[in-house]
Amino acid sequence: MSNKIIVIDFGGQYNQLVARRVRECNVYCEIYSYRTPLEKIKEMDPKGIILTGGPSSCYEEGAASCSKELFEMGIPVLGLCYGAQLMAHVLGGKVEKAPVREYGKTAVTVDQTSRLFENVTENTICWMSHFDYISKAAPGFRITATTADCPIAACEYAEKGLYAIQFHPEVLHTAEGSKMLYNFVRNICGCDGSWRMDSFVENAIVEIREKVKDGKVLLALSGGVDSSVLAALLAKAIGKQLTCVFVDHGLLRKNEGDEVEAVFGKEGSFDLNFVRVNAQNRYYEKLKGITEPERKRKTIGEEFIRVFEEEAKKIGAVDFLAQGTIYPDVVESGLGGESAVIKSHHNVGGLPDHVDFKEIIEPLRNLFKDEVRKVGLQLGLPESLVYRQPFPGPGLGIRIIGEVTAEKVRIVQDADYIYRYEVDKALSEYKAANGSDAPWKPDQYFAALTNVKSVGVMGDERTYDHAVCVRAVKTVDFMTAEAAEIPFEVLQTVMSRIINEVKGVNRVFYDLTSKPPGTIEFE
Ligand code: XMP
Repeated sequence: MSNKIIVIDFGGQYNQLVARRVRECNVYCEIYSYRTPLEKIKEMDPKGIILTGGPSSCYEEGAASCSKELFEMGIPVLGLCYGAQLMAHVLGGKVEKAPVREYGKTAVTVDQTSRLFENVTENTICWMSHFDYISKAAPGFRITATTADCPIAACEYAEKGLYAIQFHPEVLHTAEGSKMLYNFVRNICGCDGSWRMDSFVENAIVEIREKVKDGKVLLALSGGVDSSVLAALLAKAIGKQLTCVFVDHGLLRKNEGDEVEAVFGKEGSFDLNFVRVNAQNRYYEKLKGITEPERKRKTIGEEFIRVFEEEAKKIGAVDFLAQGTIYPDVVESGLGGESAVIKSHHNVGGLPDHVDFKEIIEPLRNLFKDEVRKVGLQLGLPESLVYRQPFPGPGLGIRIIGEVTAEKVRIVQDADYIYRYEVDKALSEYKAANGSDAPWKPDQYFAALTNVKSVGVMGDERTYDHAVCVRAVKTVDFMTAEAAEIPFEVLQTVMSRIINEVKGVNRVFYDLTSKPPGTIEFE
C-alpha cells in the first residue's frame, strides 16, 4: 500500500492548506477534484482520504457529491466542513440550513476519547465558516464535538474509519487543528511519516539523472524562487548538461540581475552553463509609447519569448526544456483540484514556439511554495533569494503607470530599494525587541511609479516632479488582500528618504486599497 493521502477537492477556499498541513505531518498527499472517478482513486491506493470544504449545499440538486462506495472501501475518510456534511448526507444523516450561521473563532468541546482528538484540549478554539450544519448524524455515528450553536461539530463511526468535522482544522485559527490532522493521517490512517525534503532532494536527483541520461537541458532562469531552486537542483543532478538563460529585461529590482549572476554565474557555487542576456535597451525600445496595461504585459511577455528563442538557437537542439511549475500551478490550472482557473493570467508568456526540444521536465511540480523554499535552502541557495517576495513576470513594467522609460525604471528601482530596506529594518527591529514577527508584517511590499507629476518646493526652488506610491499588503493567497498597517514613523522615514535621495521625486503616497476592488499590482 502506498503511503499517501488523497485530498478530494470540493472547491473550498482552504483546500491547498489541507494538503500543506498533511505534508507538514511528513505525509505525502495529492489533491484531486471530486469529479475524479472512484476507480482512479482506488488505483492510487491511498492510506486515507480527506474531503474538503466547498461552497455548495449538499442537499441541493447538482451539488458537488461523491458516491457511497467511497465510504465503503475500508480506507479511513475524514470530511471537513462541506466534506463532513456530504458524508452525513450520503450515509443517511440530515443536513440543513443552520438556524445560526457560524463564522470565525468558536469555542468547541471535544470528546477526548476519540482517536481524532487524542492530546487535544477538551475546550479548544476552532475556525467555523458554514451556513449548513448536520442536524442528525448518519446511523452508527456518534457525536464527538459540539459548540454553542452547532450540536454536531464532529461525529464519527470509528469502526469504519469515518470521521466528520464541521470546522476547519487546516486553518491556523483552529488552535489544535494540526494535531487533529496528525491524529488522522499518522495514527488513524497509519502513514509512516517518511515524506521529507531531504529525501525529496535525493530522489529528485536520482530521477532527473535517470530521465535526462546524457541529454542537454535548457532552463529560462528568471531569478524568482521557483526557477532558481530548479536551476540549483538540476545543477546538482546533471551539472554542465544544464544551460540556464537569464534574460535581464531591465525591469528587475535594483541590483537583482547582478545578484542572480553572483549565485549562478562563473563566480557562483553551482556547476552549470549560465548565459546572461542584457536585453534592457531592447525592451525599453519595444516599450516606447506603450501605455495600455494589457499591451504592455503582452509586449514584455512576447519579447521574453523572442530573446529566449534567439539564445536557444545559439545553443542548438536540446533534449529537455525545464520548467519551474509548482503544485499550486498544477492545481490552479485545473489539472488537479477544483478551485480556481482564476489566476491563470499569471502564467504569462507560455511556451516558446521555436525552441528545439523533445520533452518538458518539471521536477518541482509536486511541491508547495514553502517546500520549494526548503529545497532551495538545502541546495545551498542564499536566504535572500529563497525568501524573495513574489515578483511579477512583467516586472517593474507593471509598476510604472504609463510609458516605461529607462529613467522611470531607475526612479522606481531606487525608491523601491529604500522602501524595502526601511520596512525590513523595522521588521527585524520589532522581532529583536519582541521575539515575534510584527503583526503588521506584510506579505508583499514594493514601490510603484504613478503617472502624476505635481508641484513641490525643495530648498527655495519650485519643483515639478513624479509621485511615487508605496504599497504593502497582507494576504493569504494573493487572491484577496488588505493594506498592511505599516507604522507611520516608518512611512515618514521612507517618504523623506525617497524624496531626498531619489532624483525626480517630490511626493510619496501610501496605497490603502484592498483587493478587491484593487489588485496588488498597479497594471
Ligand atoms: P494582482 O495584481 O493580480 O497580483 O492582485 C496578485 C499576485 O500575483 C502577482 N502577479 C504576477 N505574477 N506574472 C506573475 O508571475 C504576472 O503577470 C503577475 N501579475 C501579478 C503579484 O505580484 C501578486 O503577488
